[in-house]
Amino acid sequence: MLDKIQQQKKAAGEYAASLVENGMVVGLGTGSTVRYFVDRLGERVANEGLDIVGVTTSNRTAHQARCLGISLADVDAVDYIDLTVDGADAVDPQLNGIKGGGAALLYEKVVAKNSKRNIWIVDGSKQHAELGHFPLPVEVVSYGEQQLCRLFKKHNLNPILRLDEDGRPLTTDNGNNIIDLHLETIPFPEELATWLSNQVGVVEHGLFLNVCDEVIVGGDEIQVLKRE
Ligand code: 5RP
Repeated sequence: MLDKIQQQKKAAGEYAASLVENGMVVGLGTGSTVRYFVDRLGERVANEGLDIVGVTTSNRTAHQARCLGISLADVDAVDYIDLTVDGADAVDPQLNGIKGGGAALLYEKVVAKNSKRNIWIVDGSKQHAELGHFPLPVEVVSYGEQQLCRLFKKHNLNPILRLDEDGRPLTTDNGNNIIDLHLETIPFPEELATWLSNQVGVVEHGLFLNVCDEVIVGGDEIQVLKRE
């Protein structure tokens, strides 16, 4: 029996899978909500002969999709991606969001930026009046990461290097590390995004601004929020 949050994730994932059409190149995000989406896509491939090509955003999703018989292509092998469906850690009323809770933000952003349409699938707990409650993930090269931590501290960004279950710095699919910024509130997301992008050693940050076109919120009734 799924709890309420899992039910919402499943409902959002399955609804998004119904939007995928034959012939599409589909960006496959990462996370527990996307897992439901990919499961349903796999069912559609097996049962309806849905003919799609997936472009994945993490090793985890690639493994799941392969196991389900979904054809995959490298992001560089396609002209563009028709539709990407991904999760989010937090989303505000303007459909800006924080991503990277699952440490896949770099590939997620690359795939999103090469997609004609981006849909996020979320449960109700991800909706916030403003961003910042969820710690902001920043992917950094490991060389000099303590220097970056010091810099972030100096700017009152409350950095914490993310550790894996063995207590070692978590390594992303690209061999980088993640520093989470515990901010509580982000009054000027654009400024922070630009500042972070300008720091040497920062590979990418989890602020996804003006990226998402639609958010699907799972529930007894599906809500579809569109960027205005
Ligand atoms: C991974 C992500 C995920 O999309 C985000 O963490 C949401 O995950 P979930 O669906 O498990 O709540 O950004 O890097």
